[in-house]
Amino acid sequence: MTGRARARSRGRARGQETPAPGAVREVVVTFFGDILVLTILIWVYLAVLQISAGFQQVKLGERGGRRRDFHDTGINTRQAMEHVKDSKTGATGAVIKLSANFFRILSRPQWVLYQYHVDFKPPMESRRLRSALFFQHEEVLGPARSFDGALLFLPQRLHNKETILHSETRNGEKVQITVTLTNELPPTSPVCIQFYNIIFRRILRVLNMQQIGRNYYNPNDPLNISQHKLTIWPGYTTTILRYESSIMMCTDVSHKVLRSETVLDFMVNLRQQCGAQRYPEICAKELIGLIVLTKYNNKTYRVDDIAWDHTPNNTFKRGGTDISFKSYYKTQYGLDITDGNQVLLISHVKKVAVAGGPPPGPAMLVPELCYLTGLTDKMRKDFTIMKDLSTHTRLNPDQREKRLSRFISNIQKNPDAQAELTKWGLSFDKQLLNLTGRVLGGERIFQGSRSYEYNPQSADWSREMRGIPVISSPPLNNWLIFHAPRNSMEAQSLLQTLHKVSGPLGIRMQRAVVIEYEDHQLSLLRALQHNVGPETQMVVIILPNNSKDKYDSVKKYLCVDCPTPSQCVVARTLSRPQALMTVATKIALQMACKMGGELWSVEIPLKQLMIVGIDCYHDTTAGKRSIGALVASLNPTMSRWYSKCVLQHKGQEIMDALKMALSGALKDYLKFNNCLPSRIIVYRDGVGDGQLHSVVNYEVSQIMDSIKSIGQDYEPKLSVVVVKKRISSRFFTQIGDKVTNPPPGTVIDTEVTRPEWYDFYIVSQSVRSGSVSPTHYNVVYDTSGLKPDHMQRLTYKLCHLYYNWQGIIRVPAPCQYAHKLAFLVGQSIHKQPSVQLDDYLFYL
Ligand SMILES: *[C@@H]1O[C@H](CO)[C@@H](O)[C@H](O)[C@H]1NC(C)=O
Ligand SMILES: *[C@@H]1O[C@H](CO)[C@@H](O)[C@H](O)[C@H]1NC(C)=O
Ligand SMILES: *[C@@H]1O[C@H](CO)[C@@H](O)[C@H](O)[C@H]1NC(C)=O
Ligand SMILES: *[C@@H]1O[C@H](CO)[C@@H](O)[C@H](O)[C@H]1NC(C)=O
Ligand SMILES: *[C@@H]1O[C@H](CO)[C@@H](O)[C@H](O)[C@H]1NC(C)=O
Repeated sequence: MTGRARARSRGRARGQETPAPGAVREVVVTFFGDILVLTILIWVYLAVLQISAGFQQVKLGERGGRRRDFHDTGINTRQAMEHVKDSKTGATGAVIKLSANFFRILSRPQWVLYQYHVDFKPPMESRRLRSALFFQHEEVLGPARSFDGALLFLPQRLHNKETILHSETRNGEKVQITVTLTNELPPTSPVCIQFYNIIFRRILRVLNMQQIGRNYYNPNDPLNISQHKLTIWPGYTTTILRYESSIMMCTDVSHKVLRSETVLDFMVNLRQQCGAQRYPEICAKELIGLIVLTKYNNKTYRVDDIAWDHTPNNTFKRGGTDISFKSYYKTQYGLDITDGNQVLLISHVKKVAVAGGPPPGPAMLVPELCYLTGLTDKMRKDFTIMKDLSTHTRLNPDQREKRLSRFISNIQKNPDAQAELTKWGLSFDKQLLNLTGRVLGGERIFQGSRSYEYNPQSADWSREMRGIPVISSPPLNNWLIFHAPRNSMEAQSLLQTLHKVSGPLGIRMQRAVVIEYEDHQLSLLRALQHNVGPETQMVVIILPNNSKDKYDSVKKYLCVDCPTPSQCVVARTLSRPQALMTVATKIALQMACKMGGELWSVEIPLKQLMIVGIDCYHDTTAGKRSIGALVASLNPTMSRWYSKCVLQHKGQEIMDALKMALSGALKDYLKFNNCLPSRIIVYRDGVGDGQLHSVVNYEVSQIMDSIKSIGQDYEPKLSVVVVKKRISSRFFTQIGDKVTNPPPGTVIDTEVTRPEWYDFYIVSQSVRSGSVSPTHYNVVYDTSGLKPDHMQRLTYKLCHLYYNWQGIIRVPAPCQYAHKLAFLVGQSIHKQPSVQLDDYLFYL
């Protein structure tokens, strides 16, 4: 879903934040790359994040055969790293008390889960029959049991290793059942952990929660946003896993958006739009995979197919007689189906026979009774909708903590839920996990000969950097500014203000050549073709509105056909005089970076170091290609970067395409430094849940191959770190009575990490409202020999170096650069940018 990718990208750099109302520095870069738009709605992005998190995985649901391991269990990377085998924790920084959204699962001392194999003689085909026969022996098995037709789990040991039971079918056939003990599982065994998750799902069903994708939602506590015809179901995401020292459940809040539009409305519209001939194909493409809600039972279904030969007039067998879907819904739910000609939808849920209901098997759904869920791309772009949603879904740390505590206490208070747990000899903590973290000190920011500290609370230095020249900026002698006739005023005021702000920043600008273009795409393109030459250093284009087409064609031309750094500005951004200085400053800085200027740096003690950031973008439009970007540092201060974007071919791994990019980066490094790096650290972002094995087993060796290709005897130290932003872990701290976010620089490397990994969390950004999201770092390969303290500190330092934000961001700067580049190519250019731009941050 492109909308989702887009939404994610918007939230990336700053994650979740609310600027103070009325503040003027809310210049953010919108989803069109570098179009500057003044907005006080950064915090809207939060809503997008949380809401989309609710259905991110529906397509990968636990349905249909083999389960995918979303938690990347069973991948042990730590054992191969000598230097962290005994300890992977750091020691520097000020200790801080934290709590986390984790609840310990407790079992009785010496608790063991007994696993049995169950055999039937004669063999029984039907699983249902096997269960029925087996459960005739209640007295032997006890109340707590889990049986899937062959495997049996019990919390107690049966008297004998082998137990023989005798049952009888309804026809009087005698069946012998042999129950053999095969395993005694300690609480930490992977099977047990799997098992806890199953029990926990039962408990959520006891609480009448509805599973959608991997999360559970509560239909009985809806929030209406009637002005947008939307309803939100509050819910939770829960995972039980083995963490550093105990088995815990990690749980976070999630929200599911439901729409008032039915699938039938949607289909009718679609048919009108695309015409009868292409309709079946397009309809299938649009509908299959969607999650729909049927309000008569508050259940959700995934649409798996369309039954083109079925209408509500079709019948099914009910108690020996035929009944049509139409009369079934009338008698059962009192619902009148008005459109008798609509075709039905198929969902391959395993349906259990309900007395008097449709037969078991795939569910047949009536489009008129199915409601759409989730947001469309169009809705995501609507600021009002996103703002109103965020009011309901954005939770401050105290609200979030309360919501989670309430969830747990509801389970504790529910007798049926408690009975289920007690039966198995399990319980869990009533309160959030307490743990300690460490807060790393702030960095000094170096700008030319000057340096300063930033406010540790706000974690930004937009104020501090005012009036101080940047490290370096190429003099701007030859540049053009394009505007439509009606924007000549804006062009003039931008030029004047740019001249005013650029001096103090140390950016020297000659007068620009001003060019007017007729307000349509072709005329703009022609104006560029006529005026941009090989000597042009920079092109500024004022766009009358944020029309994506114009922006795309400008970027395509200036990144591929005629490689030249460019800066687009939407005219409206320049219309508020009181914001003009801020906007112009931001534009001047961006222009400088795009030409190879260097803004600021932090102290990086390691020498001959190259930092690499990798991210991916999944283009759902152009034949579902993936786009990968690699950004690598070229100088010791990490102020110059090599950037390469590749478009993946069908069936190709993204790393295959990025191998060349990495050797390109090394060659460029050699050119800049007259030596190759002796140390390379790769930060790999964009790894989905369940894809860790492919990074560990495939990508690491591809990276090594690429390094080898430079020379057989070239053996730099190498670290590969997987960066994850979309995680459920949350941390809280307390100031006085108030539960708040941990301060920027908080590192967590105990308790909630995983014993088989060399991993840690860093809270690097600061948010003014909502809950801050920590970033998870997993060092999967490491010959650097760096101590955990140093790895953590270096990672945090790198979060200070993203030149499009004068503050600390959520991820190391090269990851954010790579993301920005991949996004520009995926959204606008759809081609590989010219090699002439490789050494510039042209995509900022
Ligand atoms: C929300 O809307 C639904 C139907 O649109 C309605 O049944 C319900 O009563 C409303 N709830 C609130 C709290 O307004
Ligand atoms: C479904 O949920 C709504 C609230 O969203 C509630 O009013 C209604 O009673 C529920 N219906 C059923 C059948 O559970
Ligand atoms: C279904 O039945 C209704 C009347 O009961 C009729 O109007 C409609 O045309 C029928 N549809 C089909 C596809 O047979
Ligand atoms: C965490 O600390 C708080 C306050 O000290 C305490 O009330 C709570 O019980 C602790 N939580 C756990 C799980 O021990
Ligand atoms: C921008 O303006 C053009 C005409 O100048 C118009 O066709 C287009 O729809 C507008 N786009 C947006 C996003 O407002």
